[in-house]
Amino acid sequence: MKVLVVGSGGREHALAWKLAQSKDCDELHAAPGNPGIAKLGHCHPVRAEDGEGLLAFCGEHEIDLVVVGPEAPLVAGLADQLRHAGVAVFGPSAAAARIEGSKSFAKDVMAAAGVPTAERLSVARPPCVVKVDGLAAGKGVFVCRTQAELDAGLQAAGGRGDTLVIEELLEGEEVSVFAVCDGREAQPLAPARDFKRVGDGDVGPNTGGMGAYSPVPRFGPAEVEELLETVHRPVLTELARRGSPFVGLLYAGLMMTDSGLRVLEFNCRFGDPETQAIVPRLEGDLLELLHGAATGRLAGNARAGDKAAVTVALAAPDYPERNDVGSRIEGIEEAEATGTLVFHAGTAMRGDHLVTNGGRILNVTGVGEDLAAARAAAYEGAARISFAGMRYRTDIAAGAEAHVG
Ligand code: AMP
Ligand code: GLY
Repeated sequence: MKVLVVGSGGREHALAWKLAQSKDCDELHAAPGNPGIAKLGHCHPVRAEDGEGLLAFCGEHEIDLVVVGPEAPLVAGLADQLRHAGVAVFGPSAAAARIEGSKSFAKDVMAAAGVPTAERLSVARPPCVVKVDGLAAGKGVFVCRTQAELDAGLQAAGGRGDTLVIEELLEGEEVSVFAVCDGREAQPLAPARDFKRVGDGDVGPNTGGMGAYSPVPRFGPAEVEELLETVHRPVLTELARRGSPFVGLLYAGLMMTDSGLRVLEFNCRFGDPETQAIVPRLEGDLLELLHGAATGRLAGNARAGDKAAVTVALAAPDYPERNDVGSRIEGIEEAEATGTLVFHAGTAMRGDHLVTNGGRILNVTGVGEDLAAARAAAYEGAARISFAGMRYRTDIAAGAEAHVG
């Protein structure tokens, strides 16, 4: 099979890495890809948002499967465009991608499907959470415990001119659960936990994610299965009933509250950086899984092996305020020599040198017998890598390691 991965981040590098290992993968392409993916396949200068360009590319290269990484092209209708032309796509239609693209649509679907979520409030009064309705690249949610936070949140959110959704503020640990969906049925991947705040101890602004780990203690296969029954499958049924079946990766971001699990959000694609911790644990063939879903028939083995994985994002000095461009990156081979996986996120080649080109620059994933071993491996790898002002959280999976995975 000839496979095209759309996107250029650490998530796409991890997907490409696993897809390239499939016995059925004859050619791996990426658009636009990154220097890490370029070592596994062919990268082409076509942007993820360029639907026409991607369609032409698929025709020219006789692509058998397109795997779309980021949400923006999906919400804009890339999967529809490709599917209409007969190309198999792992990624939902624009209508189904609204589950991520519109918070109020997601709330309506959850209400109709009886899925537990934070209650919608008609008045904004602290404590509460203010959410911008549309896609906001992780910058559209304001958790407001005080009136001052609420004032600031409303101002920041309102300034964007979108409709707002106000909901109750929930407390608890978070977990991300991904399911591979073929429009009717869902097959779960291993759960993961993401670290959204920029600083150790969960301080500072929200980011795209500074690290992740999998498995999640106290959230084993039985809990995942129960969750699929109460969340993913009812949502799939409701979307199909509305005439927009969901084909792709349905990501539920959940909070484990004292009164049970509640959905915080849905995403219509793989999480970043959770994917970099989940994919290395997959026992089966990712290409078989994604191709099965894309062609309407779930197939393959989505189970995770017994090992644990911890991913640490190495970020630019002023991330998330500012990206960094052009600083030389050293030490990737040394990190890989310790046995860690290094996934590129914001990197570029300048001449013969790898340089920074973004906010989150690299992801280092350690794999081990348990979370403690995986965590030690990830940090040992990270310590071998350097670029000017490199920052990373030192507490990814700290604490969780004490539990048996
Ligand atoms: P979302 O993009 O909706 O996942 O929100 C981003 C982050 O905001 C989540 O990962 C949570 O940490 C937080 N969050 C979202 N909704 C709520 C809520 N209702 N209560 C508490 N925290 C929330
Ligand atoms: N890691 C959070 C996300 O991918 O949305």
